[in-house]
Amino acid sequence: MRFSTVFGALASAALVTASPVSDLAKKHEVHGPPTVHHQVKNASEKIAPKVFIISMFSYEAAIWYDNAETEGSIGNLLEKNITVPGFSMLFPDAHCLADGSVCQLTTGESEINAASTISALMYSPYFDLTKTYFMIAGIAGINPKHGTLADVAISKYAVQVALQYEFDAREMPENWTTGYFPQGSYAPDEYPTSLYGTEVFELNEVLRDMAVGFASTATLNDSATAITYRANYNTSTLYTAATQKPSIITCDVATSDVYFSGALLGDAFENYTTLVTNGSATYCMTAQEDNASLEAMLRAAIVGLVDFSRIILMRTASDFDRPYPGDSVANNLLYNDVGGSTPAFENIYLAGTPIVKGILDGWDCTFAAGINATNYIGDVFGTLGGQPDFGPGSSYGGEGVVLSQVGLSRRDLYKKVMKN
Ligand SMILES: *[C@@H]1O[C@H](CO)[C@@H](O)[C@H](O)[C@H]1NC(C)=O
Ligand SMILES: *[C@@H]1O[C@H](CO)[C@@H](O)[C@H](O)[C@H]1NC(C)=O
Ligand SMILES: *[C@@H]1O[C@H](CO)[C@@H](O)[C@H](O)[C@H]1NC(C)=O
Ligand SMILES: *[C@@H]1O[C@H](CO)[C@@H](O)[C@H](O)[C@H]1NC(C)=O
Ligand SMILES: *[C@@H]1O[C@H](CO)[C@@H](O)[C@H](O)[C@H]1NC(C)=O
Ligand SMILES: *[C@@H]1O[C@H](CO)[C@@H](O)[C@H](O)[C@H]1NC(C)=O
Ligand SMILES: *[C@@H]1O[C@H](CO)[C@@H](O)[C@H](O)[C@H]1NC(C)=O
Ligand SMILES: *[C@@H]1O[C@H](CO)[C@@H](O)[C@H](O)[C@H]1NC(C)=O
Ligand SMILES: *[C@@H]1O[C@H](CO)[C@@H](O)[C@H](O)[C@H]1NC(C)=O
Repeated sequence: MRFSTVFGALASAALVTASPVSDLAKKHEVHGPPTVHHQVKNASEKIAPKVFIISMFSYEAAIWYDNAETEGSIGNLLEKNITVPGFSMLFPDAHCLADGSVCQLTTGESEINAASTISALMYSPYFDLTKTYFMIAGIAGINPKHGTLADVAISKYAVQVALQYEFDAREMPENWTTGYFPQGSYAPDEYPTSLYGTEVFELNEVLRDMAVGFASTATLNDSATAITYRANYNTSTLYTAATQKPSIITCDVATSDVYFSGALLGDAFENYTTLVTNGSATYCMTAQEDNASLEAMLRAAIVGLVDFSRIILMRTASDFDRPYPGDSVANNLLYNDVGGSTPAFENIYLAGTPIVKGILDGWDCTFAAGINATNYIGDVFGTLGGQPDFGPGSSYGGEGVVLSQVGLSRRDLYKKVMKN
C-alpha cells in the first residue's frame, strides 16, 4: 500500500469505527478460536478459480465488494467465504463468487504479510490453483517521470529495491549520490554479488499485453483535486508524464517495506532497478508487497501448484513518490491533499473488471490452455528454467554455490531437497 496521509487519516478513522481486529476478537469470543471450516477430502471438492484477485488492504478489497451490485460488475465476491489457515488475522477469509470462478483475498500490507498470506494460499488444501490467473491489484506511488495520479500500470518486472546495504546519507562517502548500494558491492553503481533471489521477478509479457488490451476499454476515474495537483509538476520537462490525464501504462513496480518520499531516493531506486534488470525495467510504481507475493508464487510454481505465466501485476497511482519542483518531501508524503486515492481505488475496479471478464469470456478458447510467454519468466536465478535476460544467469546459485559445477539446475536442486 502507498497512499496519501490526508486520506490515511480518514482511513484510520474508518478503521476505528469498523475495526476488523475487534470484529475478529468478538467472533472468537463467541465461537472460540478459528476452526477449519471443512476438511477437503478429495480433489473434486477443491475450488479451482479461474481468476484470483489479490488485494493488500481493506480499501483495495472494498472496491470489489462495494461494486457487487453495479451493472457490469463481476458479481458478489462475498457469496462464498473460505477461512484459510495462515491468512492474516485481519483478513482471515478468501472470498469467492458462488460458483468459485473468481476469488479474492487480502494479504495485509508490506512484504512479510504478503509472503506469508500468499504462501498460505499456495499450500491450502481448499484450492486447485494450477490453472488460476492471479491479478495483483493495488494502489501505489507513481514516479512523475513516467506517469501520474490515477494511472493504471501493468507491469512485467517487480524489483525489490530496498534489499541493499545502506549508509545514512549524512555518513556516506562524499562522492556518492545515495546511501543505498547493492549487497556484496562497494558502490551504488556496482552489480550486486550477493543475490537472495527475490531481487527481480519477470512476468509473462504476452499476458501483460492482453491485460492492457482489456483494461484499455475502461473509462478511468479521476478527481478535481488530482487534476489541479498534477499541474504543479508542469515546471519541469522531466515530469511531463505527471501532467497528463490518467491512462493505462506499462512500466514496472518497485517493492520496499520502507515507504519513502523524495527525488533522491526515487532516483536511487530507479538506478538500482536499471542496474539489477540490466536496463530492462523502468521503475514507475512503488509499493510494499509485490516481490514478496511473487516469491511465494514462484516457490509454488516450482512444485507445479501454480503456473507462473498466469500472473498479472496491476498498480494504480494514489500519490507521487516525490514532490513537485519547489515543494518539500514532507509535504509530499504527509501534508498535501493530492486527490489521488479515490480515483486509484476506483481504477482498480474499473481497469480490473474488463481484465477479469476478458479471462472468463475467453476461458475455453484461450485462457484455460494458458498463455505461452515469449519472454523469460521467473526470478534472477532462472529457477523455473530458461536463462534470465538480466542478472548473472541461471548458473549463479547464490550463497557462493555455483550449481552448474555440480551439474544441477537450481530447480533440480530444489526438487531434490523437497524429496529428501
Ligand atoms: C469426492 O468428493 C465428491 C464431492 O463431494 C464426491 O461426490 C465424491 O464421491 C468424492 N470421491 C471420493 C473418492 O471420495
Ligand atoms: C462473507 O464474509 C463477509 C464479511 O467478510 C460477510 O459480509 C458475508 O456475509 C459473508 N458471506 C457469507 C455467505 O457468509
Ligand atoms: C568516489 O571516490 C573513490 C575514491 O576516490 C573512487 O574510487 C570512486 O570511483 C568514486 N565514486 C564515484 C561514484 O565517483
Ligand atoms: C521483486 O520482484 C521483482 C520482479 O517481480 C524482481 O525483479 C525483484 O528482484 C524482486 N526484488 C526482491 C528484492 O525480491
Ligand atoms: C470517480 O469516482 C467517484 C467515486 O465513485 C465519483 O463520485 C466520481 O463521479 C467519479 N469521477 C469520474 C470523473 O469518473
Ligand atoms: C502550470 O500550471 C499552472 C496552474 O495550472 C498554470 O498557471 C501555468 O501556466 C502552467 N505552466 C506551464 C508552463 O504550463
Ligand atoms: C542515478 O544515476 C545517474 C546516472 O548515473 C546519476 O547521475 C544520479 O546521480 C543517480 N542518482 C542517485 C540518486 O543516485
Ligand atoms: C504453448 O506451448 C506448449 C509447449 O511448448 C505447446 O504445446 C502449445 O501448443 C503452445 N500453445 C500455444 C497457444 O501456442
Ligand atoms: C547483467 O549485468 C551484470 C553486471 O554488469 C552482468 O554480470 C550480467 O552478465 C548481465 N546479464 C545479462 C543477462 O546481460
